[in-house]
Amino acid sequence: MTEAVRKVPIPAKGVDYRGKVVLAPMVRSGELPSRLLALKYGADLVWGPETIDRAIIGTTRKVNEQTGCIEWCRTQSHGLKEPPPDAKMSVIYVTEPEKEAKRLIFQMGTADPDLAVEAARLIAGDVAGIDVNAGCPKPFSTSGGMGAALLRTPDKLVAILEALVKNITPHYDIGISVKIRILETAAETETLVRRLVATGITGLTVHCRTTPMRPRERAIRGQLRMVADLCHEAGVACLMNGDVESKDEGLRLATEFGADGAMIATAAETNPSCFRTAADGGLLPWRDVIGEYLATAISVNNKFSNTKYLLAQMVPGKEAAHKAVTKARSYVDMCEGLSLPHLLDQARVLDELRGLGQPTEKQKLQAARKAAQSTNASALAAGGQMGYARALSKTKKSLSNRQQPPSVSDQDKPLVVSAV
Ligand SMILES: Cc1cc2nc3c(=O)[nH]c(=O)nc-3n(C[C@H](O)[C@H](O)[C@H](O)COP(=O)(O)O)c2cc1C
Repeated sequence: MTEAVRKVPIPAKGVDYRGKVVLAPMVRSGELPSRLLALKYGADLVWGPETIDRAIIGTTRKVNEQTGCIEWCRTQSHGLKEPPPDAKMSVIYVTEPEKEAKRLIFQMGTADPDLAVEAARLIAGDVAGIDVNAGCPKPFSTSGGMGAALLRTPDKLVAILEALVKNITPHYDIGISVKIRILETAAETETLVRRLVATGITGLTVHCRTTPMRPRERAIRGQLRMVADLCHEAGVACLMNGDVESKDEGLRLATEFGADGAMIATAAETNPSCFRTAADGGLLPWRDVIGEYLATAISVNNKFSNTKYLLAQMVPGKEAAHKAVTKARSYVDMCEGLSLPHLLDQARVLDELRGLGQPTEKQKLQAARKAAQSTNASALAAGGQMGYARALSKTKKSLSNRQQPPSVSDQDKPLVVSAV
């Protein structure tokens, strides 16, 4: 008789990673519009950008009545004990509850089981799973013992996963997972993975690079089958990650190496239509994708600086449109620069809301100087000494503006949201 395949039970509100090709967690590049577009093009699940436990702890959950999004916000204190009365709100994390329902995995940066649980409690009711980042090699993560540093402190990583499984899964009915990198030798990776899959997690993603490897170095798939086998022995789903270019390729590679699915990062950052299967028409030209991206970003009031960053990834550097992206200072500029006039009306509304597209102090000063010069010229042409003096004093007044702090009107100011 064949032995039944082991499977850690998937909680009722959680998701099984098996058979899925998913959007990777990406700080900056995995914000809401990128995730919504990946889902639209065929991603089965999306990971949010790594969010540090302490960043979520102390936030307030609110519904943005304008967009329908759920936002976790905190008051900007600028290091003060008591934030000033006019302090602005920062949005730390955001989800679109309808489109991301049952498909969003919250990824956490943590090095402490208690903090991990405290942070997870604030978010677990609104997501389909919680993933622990044990693969980020960046000093901002590893210096606090988080990310890839956890690969070297397996006791701590196991304690975090066990604490989440014990305190989050039964109360919120969602699964816990972990994302790791491979270690230098297969034996080291095996020892680690054996411990991780015994914690009660439902999924494990293996990024097939070691911690010192740079993103441009080709992923190493030599340890993948072994990791997948260990996951399967313990009933845990295994996603593979590293140099997967499309959904079709992800499914093919997962089958080839015995994994249950695949995760895509860089290829999706450049062109999220990589999630369209060949049967659905395959990869779209970047020109088609940027219109969709900008429309999505506007619809969820995305921070302009983030929208601009993502568009700069999507438009090839050699294209004239790339220059238009880097020069744009507002959503209206962006629509005009990318020849997307049908988005202009919505762009105007959002610019108004975010205070974008106003002249900067420098631009105001330059305009004042120009105005003064032309007043000067006409006054002199009229031969009036009084006019000359008046024009001079106007110029001086404008120059004094230099000392003033920049106005917030030209910043990407945080939005005010209302409590549920
Ligand atoms: C811009 C960017 C941000 C990333 N941020 C995260 C992150 O927040 N958490 C994480 O676990 N990995 C992060 N990664 C790593 C990716 O999730 C992924 O593991 C890696 O890029 C390899 O996949 P790829 O070969 O498809 O790019 C990031 C990668 C990129 C390019």
